[in-house]
Amino acid sequence: MGSPGKLLFLLLSFAAVHFSSCITNGRDAAALLSLMDQMKNTPPNWSQSNDPCGAPWDGVTCNNNSRVTELKLYSMDVEGTLSSDVGSLTELTTLDLSYNNKLGGPLTPAIGELKKLTDLFLIGCSFSGTIPNELGNLAQLKYLALNSNQFIGGIPSSLGNLFNLVWLDLAENQLTGSLPVSTSTTPGLDQLVKALHFHLNQNHLTGPIPEKLFTSKMALSHILLDSNQLTGNIPASVGLVQNLTILRLDNNALNGSVPSSINNLTYLNVLNLANNMLIGPLPNLTGMNVLNSV
Ligand SMILES: *[C@@H]1O[C@H](CO)[C@@H](O)[C@H](O)[C@H]1NC(C)=O
Ligand SMILES: *[C@@H]1O[C@H](CO)[C@@H](O)[C@H](O)[C@H]1NC(C)=O
Ligand SMILES: *[C@@H]1O[C@H](CO)[C@@H](O)[C@H](O)[C@H]1NC(C)=O
Repeated sequence: MGSPGKLLFLLLSFAAVHFSSCITNGRDAAALLSLMDQMKNTPPNWSQSNDPCGAPWDGVTCNNNSRVTELKLYSMDVEGTLSSDVGSLTELTTLDLSYNNKLGGPLTPAIGELKKLTDLFLIGCSFSGTIPNELGNLAQLKYLALNSNQFIGGIPSSLGNLFNLVWLDLAENQLTGSLPVSTSTTPGLDQLVKALHFHLNQNHLTGPIPEKLFTSKMALSHILLDSNQLTGNIPASVGLVQNLTILRLDNNALNGSVPSSINNLTYLNVLNLANNMLIGPLPNLTGMNVLNSV
């Protein structure tokens, strides 16, 4: 190549780099516009440019390839529903739409296409219908917080596939059915060994707390199952969860006696078993160094 050719080549490649780092990926831009279409009160500056990454839109973060990586619209009085086109934002790692109490309707199964998602926060909205099984496809997910919505139906057993999950909060919904544990053919919550928090309280869960739900491999610090309609005995296996600090099983219909294995939980500082039909003596709690309330 002669030197004018070289110069042209350099100019062209500069232009290519310049554009690719500035103009939002077309599919992502279209997806955001579609989201905006079904929502009221999106940030005022969402309509001021057609380039959400280049002239940045509030609450939208992009990577160097002008793909959207974070969408954070918490506490903005956003109203409406979440379009299934959110599934096109395949580089998304964080989706936080929390505390928009007029944002809701069914949660689109298209969320299951966001394979890079690590954080999904939809706290305090008005999502209804069932929790999509497709959430179990989000293999990178660490934080799943769907608490304080109006979800009905069961806890999908597919959530047991979320091997990286550290936080599971489904509290304050209207979930029914039993606590899913793994079988030879289906996953279950017992597989979430990295999880620190199981917050499943204030729902309408029924059936027993399966012995299989708890193992010594679990990192759990909080187990909140209070204010459901759980029946049967407290499983002795809860005593295997060595790092447990809070165990709340109050306001259920549990019966039988309290397993003495609870005495092994040396870090426990909140134990609430009130308002059940438990019989017999409380276990010897002297193994617990820091217990505050029983
Ligand atoms: C939108 O607002 C954000 C922060 O307030 C600002 O950084 C950005 O430049 C604004 N975008 C446009 C297109 O005005
Ligand atoms: C993105 O670009 C910035 C500056 O242009 C650079 O510092 C950063 O390392 C790049 N990040 C990635 C993930 O390539
Ligand atoms: C319990 O906590 C300790 C200290 O944080 C940690 O090293 C250990 O791996 C935890 N146990 C389990 C089973 O996760």
